[in-house]
Amino acid sequence: MTKIAPSILSADFLRLGDQVQEVLDAGADILHLDVMDGHFVPNITIGPLVVKAIKKLTLAANVPLDVHLMVKNPDHLIPHFAQAGADMLTVHVEACKHLHRTIQQIRQLGMKPGVSLNPATPLGVLEEMLPFIDLVLIMSVNPGFGGQSYIPTSTAKIERLRWLLDKQRLSNVELEVDGGIKSDNAAMIAAAGASVLVVGTGIFNDNASIISNFQKLRQVLSSSS
Ligand code: DX5
Ligand code: ZN
Repeated sequence: MTKIAPSILSADFLRLGDQVQEVLDAGADILHLDVMDGHFVPNITIGPLVVKAIKKLTLAANVPLDVHLMVKNPDHLIPHFAQAGADMLTVHVEACKHLHRTIQQIRQLGMKPGVSLNPATPLGVLEEMLPFIDLVLIMSVNPGFGGQSYIPTSTAKIERLRWLLDKQRLSNVELEVDGGIKSDNAAMIAAAGASVLVVGTGIFNDNASIISNFQKLRQVLSSSS
């Protein structure tokens, strides 16, 4: 079953704890936290302090905390997110000088390592790293903001990665897709081979409640599988 990972980037930060609890109660499989430094991407969001606070809720709900680092040179930050309670920690290949060492560091600190690719980055950069990671995060928007449109060429990229993972019998590696995912394209993205869908404004918006948005996503995914 395709997992749903709500991204809190577009949640109401005045009521963050309540909204996190709401989406956990709705059945979130994973909670996705976007960390941005204003250098790797033109936006600044949260750090280890907020991750640590949210960990209290996800731990009680037994839901993994999936931290997406959109930061330059992430190595020095990795221990802080380990201490804050990240279960999965994803770095951008474009931001790492020594990706193999960075991935080793994440795993040594007890977290599941992931690598994220921006839309312009070809899958080939992953070739040497696939045996060492637990997650590939395909960006289907340019990172930095919620509410952007899904980049249609992402679908072929997802299909190619699914083929690669299956060919190398790496089905344990999660294929996570992030950006512009809504109830009207979620089934198509899952059919292309995604195992985890990150959804921000498709869940956190003013049009409907968190639970109804979430249930609509779950419904389209279950009826298409
Ligand atoms: C963008 C973030 C995404 C974003 C998704 O840089 O990595 O996780 O929050 O938001 P939507 O689903 O609104 O595109
Ligand atoms: Zn993200």
